[in-house]
Amino acid sequence: MPVYPALRRLLFGLEPEAAHGAGMAVLRTVQAVPGLAAALARRNLVDAAPLRQMLFGREFPNPVGLAAGFDKDARVVPAMPALGFGFIEVGTVTPLPQPGNPKPRLFRHSAERSLQNALGFNNGGLEAMRRRLTRVYPAVLPLGVNLGKNKATPPERALQDYETLIRGLHDLCDYLVVNLSSPNTPGLRDLQSESFVRDLLGLAAGITKTPVLVKIAPDLAPGQAAALAETAVAAGASGIIATNTTTDYSLVPGARGFGGISGRALREKSFQVFEEVAKALFGRAVLISVGGIDSGAEAYRRLRAGASLVQIYTALIYEGPSLPRRINEELLALMKRDGARGITDVIGADREGVKTPPAPPAPR
Ligand SMILES: Cc1cc2nc3c(=O)[nH]c(=O)nc-3n(C[C@H](O)[C@H](O)[C@H](O)COP(=O)(O)O)c2cc1C
Repeated sequence: MPVYPALRRLLFGLEPEAAHGAGMAVLRTVQAVPGLAAALARRNLVDAAPLRQMLFGREFPNPVGLAAGFDKDARVVPAMPALGFGFIEVGTVTPLPQPGNPKPRLFRHSAERSLQNALGFNNGGLEAMRRRLTRVYPAVLPLGVNLGKNKATPPERALQDYETLIRGLHDLCDYLVVNLSSPNTPGLRDLQSESFVRDLLGLAAGITKTPVLVKIAPDLAPGQAAALAETAVAAGASGIIATNTTTDYSLVPGARGFGGISGRALREKSFQVFEEVAKALFGRAVLISVGGIDSGAEAYRRLRAGASLVQIYTALIYEGPSLPRRINEELLALMKRDGARGITDVIGADREGVKTPPAPPAPR
C-alpha cells in the first residue's frame, strides 16, 4: 500500500517551508542511523547496466538527479542514494551566507501540481559548503554544485562572486553550475548575456578543469536560449541545464506576482526551451533537462530530445520519495519496449539526422 499519500496529507498540513524542514529532518535521520541509507539504497537505487553512463569522468548509475535548491547547503548528500537518485546537485551557494527573502516565500499550487518560490538563495555560504563537502566528497553519487551571486553584490562585481565560488569549490565536486537564471535575485537573469557568459567561462577555464555547466531560464525570448547556450559552449562550458523556474504567472490561476513557478505548469515551456537548446547543441555538450518531469514517460521524452540527464524537484514533493525509482523502472520498461539496449540509444533519438550520442568530456 502506498504510504506517501497519507504522509503528504500530514506534510501539506504544514506551511511549505516547515514541510521541507520536516523532510530534511527525516533525511538527516536516515543518514545518521548506521546502515539505514545503504539498506534503502539497495531497495530504491536502480543501478541497471542499461541506465548507466559515464559523464564528467564519473559513472552515473541512472539519469535521474535531484535538482538544485532542495539541498541548498549539502546537508543530506549521504541520504540521496536512499531516494534512488542517480546524481545530486547541491546549492545554490553564494560566497557569503545570506538569509534569503522575507517569509512567506514558498507556496503550493496543488491543483496544478506546481510550486512557486521566492526563496532568494537562502544559504550558509561558501565556507560552510566547503566544510560539508570536504566531509562527503567524493560522494557515492556524482555531485554537482550550483553557484550564484550574493544579493548585495552589485552587477559589476558579479563576476568576482562566481570566481570566488569556482576557486573555493571546484575540487569538491564532479561538476559546477553557474546559475544565471533564478528569478529571485534582482538582476541575476540580466547576466544571461553573451558577453557575461563569455567572460565567466573564460575565467573558469583559467581556474579549473572541473566541468562547468550553465543553467538557463525558461523565459528567454525565442532564439535567445540557443544563442546563449552556443556562446557558453564555445567559451568552454561542458553543458547546459534547462531550465530554472518561470516568471510566466499566467500559467497558474491565482499565482502571486513574484518568485518562480515550477512543476507541471512549467513542463511545456521548459521542454520547448530545452528542445531549442538541444537542436543547436546536441552532440556537442552534455544537456540536462529539468522542469515539470514527473514520470518515466516524461523523462524518456527529455532523453529522446537530447538530454543525457534529467533532474526533478517539484514532483518529488507531490509524488514522494519513491518517484526516482519509479521513473527509472518506467525508463527501463520503455527502453525494452523500443528495443534500446542502453541509455545512449535513447539519448537524442528524436534529434533528426544526429545519431551519435554526446561524447563524454575527458576525465579530469
Ligand atoms: C523551492 C525551490 C527552490 C529552488 N532553488 C533553486 C536554487 O537554489 N538554485 C537553482 O538553480 N534552482 C533552484 N530551483 C529550481 C529547480 O532546481 C528546478 O530548476 C525547477 O524547480 C524546475 O524543476 P521542477 O519542475 O522539477 O521543480 C528551486 C526550485 C524550487 C521549487
